Amino acid sequence: MSDTKSANAMWGGRFASGPDAIMEAINASIGFDKRLAAQDIAGSRAHAAMLAAQGIISDKDAEAIREGLLTVLSEIKAGTFQFSTALEDIHMNIEARLKEIIGEPAGRLHTARSRNDQVATDFRLWVRDQADAAIGGLEALIRALLDQAEAGADWVMPGFTHLQTAQPVTWGHHMMAYVEMFARDLGRFTDARARMNESPLGAAALAGTGFDIDRDMTAKALGFDRPMANSLDAVSDRDFALEFLAAASITAMHLSRFAEELVIWSSAQFRFVTLSDRFSTGSSIMPQKKNPDAAELIRAKIGRILGATMALFTVMKGLPLAYSKDMQEDKEQVFDAADTLMLALAAMTGMVSDMTANGENLEAAAASGFSTATDLADWLVREAGLPFRDAHHVTGALVAMAEAKGCDLADLSLGEMQEVNAAITEGVYDVLTVQASVASRMSYGGTAPARVREQIARWREALG
Ligand code: ARG
Repeated sequence: MSDTKSANAMWGGRFASGPDAIMEAINASIGFDKRLAAQDIAGSRAHAAMLAAQGIISDKDAEAIREGLLTVLSEIKAGTFQFSTALEDIHMNIEARLKEIIGEPAGRLHTARSRNDQVATDFRLWVRDQADAAIGGLEALIRALLDQAEAGADWVMPGFTHLQTAQPVTWGHHMMAYVEMFARDLGRFTDARARMNESPLGAAALAGTGFDIDRDMTAKALGFDRPMANSLDAVSDRDFALEFLAAASITAMHLSRFAEELVIWSSAQFRFVTLSDRFSTGSSIMPQKKNPDAAELIRAKIGRILGATMALFTVMKGLPLAYSKDMQEDKEQVFDAADTLMLALAAMTGMVSDMTANGENLEAAAASGFSTATDLADWLVREAGLPFRDAHHVTGALVAMAEAKGCDLADLSLGEMQEVNAAITEGVYDVLTVQASVASRMSYGGTAPARVREQIARWREALG
């Protein structure tokens, strides 16, 4: 397996021979960290400008470096850049190419810097972009949900507990429940973004540097709020990525729950919603089928995102300060989780925008399963003065009677009801409809259409 390649040009001064092929394979990250190219170049351009401003390198060299880096970036974007595994990672690939383009000044770029602060900076910038993308994706999804909620603020449907009919709710209320969840997710990405927005650049290998650098200048140039205050922490912290993954995991869990509801609701047994052809697929053998594949895939995507979260926690657990190569294992997981999340958000937004709720089916289902039994019990408390526990008991007896007769509560005659409790009057029928039931639930946060409309207006205003 030995390989007699020459030693690495970047760090091989003390090495007599190059790495074994297996060593090179396990060591190289260029296969995936090429995704950090734009961030790496932005970081290096900021660093070079700062070095010149501080008189550490000449303006002329800095200019050559900054221009040369733009050339490298355009080569990468054009797909003409030759990535090399022997050059390990994106940082050294770019620097080596820079040297080919501009010659000697390229060697001055790495003054007062290490790949440790470099990679921490690149990765933060990348994750920050993804936090912004997640925020944008969640906002789009929330808007789609608000449109659904508005269209169906009055439509009644069964509310479930244990997936058993519980009480009628409104379609708008159900959609708005997800607005609340996704808005909290959005808040988590916003919080994480604010916390991660500090610059590791200038922490150098781990201890800072003896050069008179200006970390505020590079932080500002890269859109960070400030430089990180501790160089050891700056190069070894990955909790910004973990926070991103945690927020992504919670979002994916919410997406998964909603996706599951869409799978159930679109089934022939429920027929609560019709998903659009654009977000469904057919079966190659059963011509009648229209499958909710997008919803099923979104339901499953949490596996990858949560897996990535677990993986990075496990990589970071027990690592002594400061940098260890273990931390090179931070990226692929986050890349995959971010890609997965953005796709799932986009697919859910498309599905929600396109889906049609079947109002009649929702209403018919809302009325089944004695869903207004609680309204009957509440009526007995209010109008007949019964303690709630007794009212519950009386209502239970009426449900049993209706069940035995195979009818709904509203189909029992007044005489039949009075056999169970003499205090019941004609007025009881007013509360037995699903419309009356939802309209009465005016408590703050309740399902009454008027309350739902207030919430829709509040969120529309908040989103601007
Ligand atoms: N490719 C490396 C990583 O992703 C860059 C940092 C390497 N630093 C070092 N001291 N070997 O972590």
